[in-house]
Order: sequence, then C-alpha cells, then structure tokens
Amino acid sequence: MTTHQAAGDAGTVQMDEYRPLLPPEGVERIRELRQTLLQGQSDEAGEETVSFLHLTLKVPAEVMTPCPVSPLFGQAIVAELDEGERMLDMGTGSGSLSVLAAGTAGHVLAVDLNPHAVEAARVNAALNGVSDRVEVRQSDVFTNVDGTFDLIVFNPPFQWFAARDVADAATQDENYGALTRFFREVRGYLADDGRVMVFFSTMGDVHYLHKLIADAGFQREEVLQHSAPVAGTQVDFFAYLLR
Ligand SMILES: C[S@@+](CC[C@H](N)C(=O)[O-])C[C@H]1O[C@@H](n2cnc3c(N)ncnc32)[C@H](O)[C@@H]1O
Repeated sequence: MTTHQAAGDAGTVQMDEYRPLLPPEGVERIRELRQTLLQGQSDEAGEETVSFLHLTLKVPAEVMTPCPVSPLFGQAIVAELDEGERMLDMGTGSGSLSVLAAGTAGHVLAVDLNPHAVEAARVNAALNGVSDRVEVRQSDVFTNVDGTFDLIVFNPPFQWFAARDVADAATQDENYGALTRFFREVRGYLADDGRVMVFFSTMGDVHYLHKLIADAGFQREEVLQHSAPVAGTQVDFFAYLLR
C-alpha cells in the first residue's frame, strides 16, 4: 500500500469517526465564534506585505497572514531546533515558520495543500535569501513527503467545519480529516529522537487533539501558552512538544 493510498483510506475512515469530544456548551461556543468570524470577513483583501519577527513576507489574499500569536510559535520552534537539523513544516502557508527556521535548520521541507501557499512560500524563501535551505512542495498532509525529520511542526486549521474555499481551509479542516491523518502517519516521518511541535487553541476541539496525541503514543509537554481575545472571546493558544 502506498503512502497516498494509506492517506486516502485513513481520510475515508476518519470522516465518519469524528464527533466533538468537547462538552456541548464548548461546541456551541466554537460554532458561534465561527459565525462571528465569517460575518467579519472582507472580500476585498489583496496581497499584503507583512513583518514577521525580523522577516518580510508577501502574503497573497488566498493565503493566511500569520496571526498575532504566530511569532511566539516561531520562536518556540527556533528554541527547539539544533543547528543543521532537518525540519518538516506541515501546512506552511506563507512559509513564515520555514523561512524563520532556515536560520538554524540545515534543510526545511515546507508543504501545503493550497497551491497559492506553495507559490507564496517559494517567493518568501527567495525574498529572505534562504531558498537553498527551504524546499517547497504541494502535498495533502504526507502524500508528497518522503524522508525523515528531526522536527516536524504543524500549525493546523483549528476548527472542524467545512471550508468555503481554499483560503478558508487555513482555519477549517472538515471533521479534522487532515489532523487525524497527520497523527496516524507522523511517526513514519520522524528520525530517531525526532520531535513534533503542534500549535493549537481553544478555538478548536482540544479534547480531540489530546486523544489524537495519546492514540499516537506521544507524551506532550506544553512549551508555549498565550491568551488573547479573538472576536470578543478570550482564546488560549498553546504549543506542545511531542516525543
Ligand atoms: C493555520 S494555517 C498555518 C499557516 C502557517 N504555517 C502559519 O503558521 O502561519 C494552516 C495551513 O495548513 C494548510 N492545510 C490545510 N489542509 C491541509 C492538508 N490537508 N495538507 C497540507 N496542508 C494543509 C492550509 O492551506 C494552511 O496554509
């Protein structure tokens, strides 16, 4: 069975399997937050030029702009990386985390399902002078990933609703299909003593994330905790280092 078939099969199975593990009031709070954020969306966004720590990034309208907490996740990644290590950036978006990590890592593979993100990550690696260390590929989770990595990082879509379009798929992973496949397959891509760092928040089903982590046999250590308001709701953001 190829990796691609395995991914597809896992995808089919888990679409039926996901049920929110949060209590009903938690599910309702997240549904309301989703509606509030949809109502606040503007269709007029174009390409933006943004600062991300010491980097400058170009972010097209179809790609997620790094969120205000994202630099903290970037710093946690850099603190964890050892010089010359191999890193995989799952769901790279604008390439922000990959370009940042390329200052320390020997090689970064940045992947994303969204073709606009793939292009943006290539542009941003070149813009910041790290194209020689950042390879960018289009991939549906691990379908186009090979080799093993010392550190695999994932800032996934936090919510489980159906995405309206490719840009919305930065925050929506229907029934957590991609997140579930990630945890079912990630061990096969870890080097000896390899680690995973995952970013998440109370905008999503934290109980389900904990179940995926436990089912995959990882111990989790919280390496980042930050609280911030999102659309009038206080949200906890955190990163786990998994071994
Ligand atoms: C929350 S954004 C993170 C972007 C970027 N890493 C950052 O930290 O700003 C999630 C990213 O995952 C990508 N994504 C969603 N589903 C995916 C899948 N099945 N395979 C690969 N990438 C996926 C989205 O296109 C999006 O770029």
